[in-house]
Amino acid sequence: MAKGGSVVVFGGTSEIGKRLAIHYATQDRVVIVTSRDRERAEATAGEVGGHCTGISLDLSKPHTIEAALAGIDNVEHLALVAVERDENNLRDYNIDSALNLVTLKLVGYTEAIHVLAPRMHEQGSIVLFGGLAKDRPYPGSITVSTVNGAVSTMVHTLALELSPLRVNAIHPAVVGDSPYWLNKPEGVLEALRARTPSGELITVDEVVDATVFLLENRAVNGVNLRVDGGWMLM
Ligand SMILES: NC(=O)c1ccc[n+]([C@@H]2O[C@H](COP(=O)([O-])OP(=O)(O)OC[C@H]3O[C@@H](n4cnc5c(N)ncnc54)[C@H](OP(=O)(O)O)[C@@H]3O)[C@@H](O)[C@H]2O)c1
Repeated sequence: MAKGGSVVVFGGTSEIGKRLAIHYATQDRVVIVTSRDRERAEATAGEVGGHCTGISLDLSKPHTIEAALAGIDNVEHLALVAVERDENNLRDYNIDSALNLVTLKLVGYTEAIHVLAPRMHEQGSIVLFGGLAKDRPYPGSITVSTVNGAVSTMVHTLALELSPLRVNAIHPAVVGDSPYWLNKPEGVLEALRARTPSGELITVDEVVDATVFLLENRAVNGVNLRVDGGWMLM
């Protein structure tokens, strides 16, 4: 018999999402991981083990989210980890790619919360994933920076409207061992390391640990947590 309410990880097939799911599965919790692809969701649930199941759901199609979440109940924690990156710039602006990311995080995250909040425990909590591109823009980050900035303001309204549920956001810097960055040329990673006071890029496990802190610590509410090894100090 599993313990407590369930933990739903949107974007559970990402390395961060999967290791967060494993954290809770090893604590004997019911865990649900999502992917756009049912087979990938089920395969990930198999890797996570314990009481984990996988469902398919596309956050960039908000009208379909309610039906995709039918049958999920008794929820304690939600983690909204999903992203589809939009490397976009003003000279060669791709409207569809921008709309996809804006819809995924701003409307998709919100609709998923809208659907599941009434099925959550009073002491439940929610974490949204933003990122430090909100403070450290780069050429090509027009949508990513804007969307992460919006995530940081969304948590405030959500925390007020959904009280007593707690809502926080995590804003990681470059996660050095995440698949997106792992395959970058060493020179790129070395330059980033040199600009990080801790001398190391943050890791998937550190992001998972910080996410668990936001989900579990009952004093933390409406917070945007920077997880960056001191990167923003340089
Ligand atoms: N990695 C970093 O360095 C870094 C830095 C700052 C912030 N972040 C944030 O951390 C989070 C995780 O990043 P990551 O690099 O670990 O992600 P990732 O490896 O690129 O994985 C993306 C996840 O999002 C899911 N996804 C993509 N499009 C979706 C859609 N339309 N609907 C539902 N799910 C969708 C993918 O699932 P399927 O493909 O299986 O559908 C996958 O699980 C993101 O929110 C990202 O913005 C990451």
